[in-house]
Amino acid sequence: MEIAEAIKSRKSIRGFLPQPVPKDVLEEVLRLASHSPSANNRQPWEVAVIGGEVLKQLKQALFEAAKSGIPPDHDIPEPPPPELYLNRSRDLARRLYGILGIAREDREAREQWALLRIRFFDAPNALIFYQDRRLGLVSLLDIGLFLQSIMLAALAFGLGTCPETSVVSYPKILRRILNIPDEKIIVGGIAIGYPDWQQPANKLESPREPLESFTRWHGF
Ligand SMILES: Cc1cc2nc3c(=O)[nH]c(=O)nc-3n(C[C@H](O)[C@H](O)[C@H](O)COP(=O)(O)O)c2cc1C
Repeated sequence: MEIAEAIKSRKSIRGFLPQPVPKDVLEEVLRLASHSPSANNRQPWEVAVIGGEVLKQLKQALFEAAKSGIPPDHDIPEPPPPELYLNRSRDLARRLYGILGIAREDREAREQWALLRIRFFDAPNALIFYQDRRLGLVSLLDIGLFLQSIMLAALAFGLGTCPETSVVSYPKILRRILNIPDEKIIVGGIAIGYPDWQQPANKLESPREPLESFTRWHGF
């Protein structure tokens, strides 16, 4: 696949076939992604690769926490975004709920969707990313690059991915089940598996702002 085509065709997948991803495929995807650049070649990424019974247990624990209304407690807090960004999120939600046929006032259906989200959209495999707590914010850039490399590499194996911060809402649960020590900061996750193209959510096309809105040219 051409690089430009890969970048354009990657999209968040929110519905998966049940068949697990073979371990050697996951290894190859992660090996490819390890070629990502990082500041001073620190390679700060650490990843829990999850499947089988452990994933079942994790999904159940996250689901129960979310269902019982425990407030999220991310290691990296997310303050409420300014209006500009909030509007983009609202637009995304409108498009997604529209495709799913969920009405604006249907709180029950929205809650069900949120619970599916925290269960990695029932993907057969999942990745959780963390890094040494002593590293600065710059290392988060490295982790982001690593995630994008994983998502692009996954395409070469017919895999779909969804990056998710909702799945790291309850770090205590992740630490307990995945044995992640307190010295690590948990950054985010990826749901990974073979896309179920029958799932309407996978038809969602997230819009992008035009080039002019985010570029400032100097010396041209
Ligand atoms: C850091 C990060 C966190 C995200 N968290 C979630 C999430 O919790 N749930 C979800 O459905 N999508 C999540 N997404 C996916 C975004 O909604 C998606 O990337 C965006 O709408 C652009 O769409 P695309 O990935 O299909 O191009 C996340 C993406 C990123 C980069």
